[in-house]
Amino acid sequence: MRIGILGSGLMGGKLGAIFARAGHDVVFSYARSERKLKRLAREAGRGARAGTPGDAARGADAMLLAVHWSRVDDVLEQAGDLSGKTIVTCSLPMNEKDTDLVIAHTSSGAEELARKLPQSDVVSAFGTVPSEVLFAVFDARRRAKRPSLVYCGDAARAKKVAAALIRDAGFEPVDAGPLRIARYTEPFTLLVAQLAYESDEGPELAYRFERFGKK
Ligand SMILES: NC(=O)c1ccc[n+]([C@@H]2O[C@H](COP(=O)([O-])OP(=O)(O)OC[C@H]3O[C@@H](n4cnc5c(N)ncnc54)[C@H](OP(=O)(O)O)[C@@H]3O)[C@@H](O)[C@H]2O)c1
Repeated sequence: MRIGILGSGLMGGKLGAIFARAGHDVVFSYARSERKLKRLAREAGRGARAGTPGDAARGADAMLLAVHWSRVDDVLEQAGDLSGKTIVTCSLPMNEKDTDLVIAHTSSGAEELARKLPQSDVVSAFGTVPSEVLFAVFDARRRAKRPSLVYCGDAARAKKVAAALIRDAGFEPVDAGPLRIARYTEPFTLLVAQLAYESDEGPELAYRFERFGKK
């Protein structure tokens, strides 16, 4: 697939590198320095390049939105027409200080994003794990027991794309249902962050759901 990265920081930089290593064509965009984007592309290797958000969007099969909530409108404006595209978002609707969700209970960041992009198919994925664990999960992708990763969305085709990317990154995709379930997955991320960043064991934390009982 051709994947456009909107926001090449902790999440976008690492996931872009992982998607490139998994064999996808990746365009890194939206950082404060072009040098950084070029470095990310160089390090990600073949199939990766740096560009503007518009370049990232052009011809992309899927976009990863990985910016702070306060930058969403700016990056979308720079990206231009995203109609018909799959938008995988890991962006959480956090306040400026990153201390709390500014949208919750009655809506979610993912749903607000879908309202901003009515012609696109938004899937919420990757936002429930810390960036620090991403390379470790990718490196362990051949293990039988993979960590889970919940995702949700309203468009079946876009969800298939997201599930494939989740699998490529080394996780077991867990379909949590329609996009409104992001009302639960987004606050769940704050629990994961609490466990990751407030423990002595380091932030390389993923989670795994297991079902018991009759098959
Ligand atoms: N980090 C995590 O572990 C984690 C986990 C789950 C969900 N999330 C969510 O994922 C999203 C991205 O998080 P992140 O930690 O990856 O953020 P980040 O490291 O700050 O990355 C954001 C990207 O946006 C770029 N940017 C910011 N302001 C800009 C501007 N004015 N012009 C151009 N580029 C600009 C940054 O540029 P620079 O590269 O120059 O800084 C960076 O590349 C957030 O919504 C966050 O809540 C993060």
